Amino acid sequence: MATGRGHRVDDITSGATGSGFLAPRKGRSIGFAAERRRVLVTVVHEEGIIYTVNMLILNKTAGVFSKPSKRNMYEFLRSFNFHPGKLFLHKLVLGIETSCDDTAAAVVDETGNVLGEAIHSQTEVHLKTGGIIPPVAQQLHRENIQRIVQEALSASKVSPSELSAIATTIKPGLALSLGVGLSFSLQLVDQLKKPFIPIHHMEAHALTIRLTNKVEFPFLVLLISGGHCLLALVRGVSDFLLLGKSLDIAPGDMLDKVARRLSLIKHPECSTMSGGKAIEHLAKQGNKLHFDFKPPMQRARNCDFSFSGLHHVIDKMIMQKEKEEGIEKGQILSSAADIAAAVQHTIACHIAKRTHRAILFCKQRDLLCQSNAVLVVSGGVASNLYIRKALEIVTDATQCTLLCPPPRLCTDNGIMIAWNGVERLRAGLGILHSTEGIRYEPKCPLGADISKEVGEAAIKVPRLKMKI
Ligand code: KG4
Ligand code: ZN
Repeated sequence: MATGRGHRVDDITSGATGSGFLAPRKGRSIGFAAERRRVLVTVVHEEGIIYTVNMLILNKTAGVFSKPSKRNMYEFLRSFNFHPGKLFLHKLVLGIETSCDDTAAAVVDETGNVLGEAIHSQTEVHLKTGGIIPPVAQQLHRENIQRIVQEALSASKVSPSELSAIATTIKPGLALSLGVGLSFSLQLVDQLKKPFIPIHHMEAHALTIRLTNKVEFPFLVLLISGGHCLLALVRGVSDFLLLGKSLDIAPGDMLDKVARRLSLIKHPECSTMSGGKAIEHLAKQGNKLHFDFKPPMQRARNCDFSFSGLHHVIDKMIMQKEKEEGIEKGQILSSAADIAAAVQHTIACHIAKRTHRAILFCKQRDLLCQSNAVLVVSGGVASNLYIRKALEIVTDATQCTLLCPPPRLCTDNGIMIAWNGVERLRAGLGILHSTEGIRYEPKCPLGADISKEVGEAAIKVPRLKMKI
């Protein structure tokens, strides 16, 4: 093994460990380790370098930092300490997420090790203003992005030059928010001369499960969040069939609106919770049978969703209750917990029914694995345990396996973006070596839309007892 400026080193795998770091193995000669350290010092300090599983490739190198186009980015990159003595065996992807109200970043290696992550949530600010105000979100992203990326990289002990690629959410999302992540990333990519991997936020949510569980394609995914409600068949890293979606607002959006209307921010137990979380929390203290909200779209035999009609009905009910209880808008109803329980139950039944139909459709068309059909549920609303229980009833009845990422990976985070970058890197899909003409896309569908075909199949879903 030899190295030096401008040379290519072909094999450094002999010290491989499962951790993602290349460390000397027990029993190896000191000389070998010393040589490797020498290699490291030389390379990491003087050359840009990419370490891969079987190869160590010297990058085009020097000059990467010498002509910064933007002073800030230069200062930023200079602030990193390098870590001689540590050699990364696997490809490393930095993921950056700013599509909505979380500024998040993470470094993940190609085996799925999360080496570092950081997140700044804007939830508290937006709770106070009663919803996300895009210019406010943009400003907060601007204020935090550099620190968050720095924290993720520092936690990972990876220097920017060691990254194999930078993956960033560019669609769909709030235009002003997406713009911050994209322009920061493009500067970074430009300075570091690294490949750029544009990420579809919903695809990233969908594939997160492959980081935590061994899940093969194809599988069915239900994505339920503040901005989305989608049912899709995932056939590959970037191969999705859209079976159904919300025709109006997303369930998280509706829960946020209802929580706001119920003034749950003033509730001592819920003041710092997102709307959906507050509803889930309060629902535990309520009786769902005190209100009878009908699940939407009962006659439409497709896999689409709707929440705004139900939202309207709940709004009217809250107004009526305020009158009955003789309280002003902005005060907390004594029946708030019962309303929360009934709303949560109705949403859960609606989501469960549409998902049940999607499973039956996939089974009818032989689109899922016969022996082990998998339903993955993700997105912020998927952290709701009541909704998960409803979905479990469906998967039990249809002999499917229900899988959900852990709650912190269901909500927006940088790990899912970095992981999607890893998936794309491994599959060789969508890796850009030039970022010319790259734009963010606030609206962007997920995969090929076959929802019409699903509706035409008009599958009748057997009634299930929703005893949750
Ligand atoms: O995926 P996410 O973090 O952001 C996007 O919308 O992309 O989801 C946030 C949404 C919010 O609407 C929030 O109210 C909802 O997820 N949420 C929940 C829960 N935790 C967060 N909804 C129901 N139950 C929860 N426990
Ligand atoms: Zn999301």
